[in-house]
Amino acid sequence: MTKYDTTVIGSGPGGYVAAIRCAQLGLKTAIIERYPTLGGTCLNVGCIPSKALLDSSEHFNNAKHNFEAHGINTQKLELNWPRMRQRKDDVVSQTCDGLQYLMKKNKITVLNGHGTFKDKNTITVKGKANDEQTVNTEYTIIATGSKPSSIPGVNCDKKRIITSTEALSLQEVPEKLIVIGGGVIGLELGSVFNRLGSTVQVVEYLDRLVAGMDISLGKEVLRVLKKQGIEFFLSHAVQKAVVNGKNVEVTAKNKQGKEVKFSGDYCLVAVGRRPYTENLGLQDIGITLDEQGRITVNEHLETSVSGIYAIGDVIKGAMLAHKAEEEGVFVAETIAGQKPHINYKSIPEVLYTWPEAAGVGFTEDELKAENYNYSSGSFPFKALGRARVSMDTEGFVKVLADKDTDEILGIHIVGARAADLIAEAVVALEYRASSEDIARMSHAHPTYAEAIKEAMLDATGKRSLHT
Ligand code: FAD
Ligand code: NAI
Repeated sequence: MTKYDTTVIGSGPGGYVAAIRCAQLGLKTAIIERYPTLGGTCLNVGCIPSKALLDSSEHFNNAKHNFEAHGINTQKLELNWPRMRQRKDDVVSQTCDGLQYLMKKNKITVLNGHGTFKDKNTITVKGKANDEQTVNTEYTIIATGSKPSSIPGVNCDKKRIITSTEALSLQEVPEKLIVIGGGVIGLELGSVFNRLGSTVQVVEYLDRLVAGMDISLGKEVLRVLKKQGIEFFLSHAVQKAVVNGKNVEVTAKNKQGKEVKFSGDYCLVAVGRRPYTENLGLQDIGITLDEQGRITVNEHLETSVSGIYAIGDVIKGAMLAHKAEEEGVFVAETIAGQKPHINYKSIPEVLYTWPEAAGVGFTEDELKAENYNYSSGSFPFKALGRARVSMDTEGFVKVLADKDTDEILGIHIVGARAADLIAEAVVALEYRASSEDIARMSHAHPTYAEAIKEAMLDATGKRSLHT
């Protein structure tokens, strides 16, 4: 039996990053993965394939609707869906292969199979062919991630009633896609198929979209996606979905309690994800879960059993790849005796529709709930030269700052490249910048980032220059 300083269970962005950092810190490290490829949800069936399809479908959409205005004629435009899917698969496999290389480079042992605790320091790894090996370990990091959840009355048959995993590999573009849930997955994958020609109807329980983000972003995204042709049914609680031949019949209740029926050839269930802890043997060694099935951890991300840590989607907090990565580094450094820190308030959230939406820090609702004395500033992309150049004039930047000290508290963006722009906001928050600080910094012209500077100018006494 080989003995390791640290064993990581799960090779998603939490697990593989934790393993690399452990190895960098001189710990003898193993990583256990039950799937044939490394990378977890994010690389295999999450961030990477969804963004590959978002990019391809946006090219198609632009060719169809926007190229003519640029003076480019594309009379015989055709969608080659198998090719688009293949490119996505190629991107995924290149990225997963890259991880194999990183494991080798860092001398991390990769063990293929399902990991189960036998005791606090012993893990059995059962392979596909029922082969079994045993690992002895001083520390363990659980990074087993999450799986799609469903709702009562909706049973995903994975053929017609599908999750994001099947949606990313559909053999055909749906004629009519019913999406249950107006959160991140519903809007991103809804956008992909809307651009490729499907009729897309999003049925959402709440009266707003992307409820975790600042309310202004949800409103703007709703307006823009409606213009792009997606139909929205807010305040509709889905009760059931039934497959009928090649059709799915979805029943929801609206605010007035009236039944509303939807019908399509596919139904995407995007109502959140649940932590994955199956057959890990947690109960046997005394690791506790909270009421939502997440592994409970203390401020060091240590579970109820000392020496065993948990990170990423399997614990509380946002289910985001970069959150899992930060926690991976945090735990590795903790095990190595360092004193790391994570500022959860400066972890950004991004929605990869077009335009993109992104936010970091406090939302306006959170500040209102605390009766915080704040000021705000905003700037519309339509007033920006760069946005007019690319015809990406939808959206705005909104900044929230402390009214007395001018310290930036939150930045919320809908607009072209918001996913990249938010990095400046994260730096500003981490360094506790004031809006005056950012307003006085030179921003290259013409860039989308000028919208941030202008919103900061607006927050510091309505001094924006281009509105
Ligand atoms: P995971 O990535 O889920 O990895 C867990 C791994 O553990 C899996 O490979 C699993 O097979 C393995 N495992 C589980 N149990 C065992 C066991 N007992 N033994 C061995 N192996 C085991 N986040 C973003 O930040 N940006 C995005 O753009 C984004 N897009 C997404 C798009 C989609 C469609 C989906 C579904 C998710 C997306 N996410 C995105 C969320 C992101 O994928 C997750 O937050 C992230 O993958 C969580 O990382 P993790 O390491 O905690 O777990
Ligand atoms: P989500 O939590 O973002 O959205 C689920 C939506 O479903 C909510 O708005 C909820 O109100 C709605 N809903 C629940 N029950 C319903 C019902 N009965 N009828 C109608 N609507 C109902 O979850 P989603 O989109 O499944 O994503 C899961 C996780 O994956 C997210 O937490 C996110 O962190 C991660 N993710 C991140 C991405 C990114 O960072 N860009 C992209 C995709 C996923």
